[in-house]
Amino acid sequence: MIDLSRAHLLGKGSSRACYLHPYDDRKCVKVTFSSRSDITCEEMKHYRRFMKRGISWDMLARAYGYVSTNYGEGAVFSLARDFTGEISRPLEYYLRPDGLHLLSADELLDALNTFRMYLFRERIVVRELKADNLIYQRLSSLEGKLILIDGVGNNEFLPVANYSVRFA
Ligand SMILES: Nc1ncnc2c1ncn2[C@@H]1O[C@H](COP(=O)(O)OP(=O)(O)O)[C@@H](O)[C@H]1O
Ligand SMILES: [Mg+2]
Repeated sequence: MIDLSRAHLLGKGSSRACYLHPYDDRKCVKVTFSSRSDITCEEMKHYRRFMKRGISWDMLARAYGYVSTNYGEGAVFSLARDFTGEISRPLEYYLRPDGLHLLSADELLDALNTFRMYLFRERIVVRELKADNLIYQRLSSLEGKLILIDGVGNNEFLPVANYSVRFA
């Protein structure tokens, strides 16, 4: 069992808290604190589908299964680091007034275009595309890429897009 009480908290969403993995600095552990405890389970269904399809993980955090923690069941995911070794930050950080000067409009546009092409190519349907569900990984002082860390899924009543390139 992993003890997260002293682990570094990376961020909190509406239902999960994300901690730096205490034994692996390239991974993080997510635990659910809301009543919507099925969120990770739902997400894993999509991940299993992606694994079966053999998609590229270039712009989607990888999932490494479950671990037990002192805060209940945790799900392990890959954690991106910038070229400097620092933990990559959510896109939201770069869009705040004090973060704007860190990322040029051209750099962001390139990253958004590349990310969009990636989603189309790998047929990844996103339920909730928000700046706090995307990490901006700085690959050099001039370029970086976006990585989706949350929000995969499909809220269609009949999720045809999961099966058809055309509908995706
Ligand atoms: N792979 C990751 N790398 C870095 N930070 C992350 C990662 N996954 C989550 N986080 C941070 O934790 C926050 C909450 O995680 P998230 O999965 O979005 O939870 P929720 O499902 O509650 O929205 C994110 O907004 C982000 O700040
Ligand atoms: Mg989120």
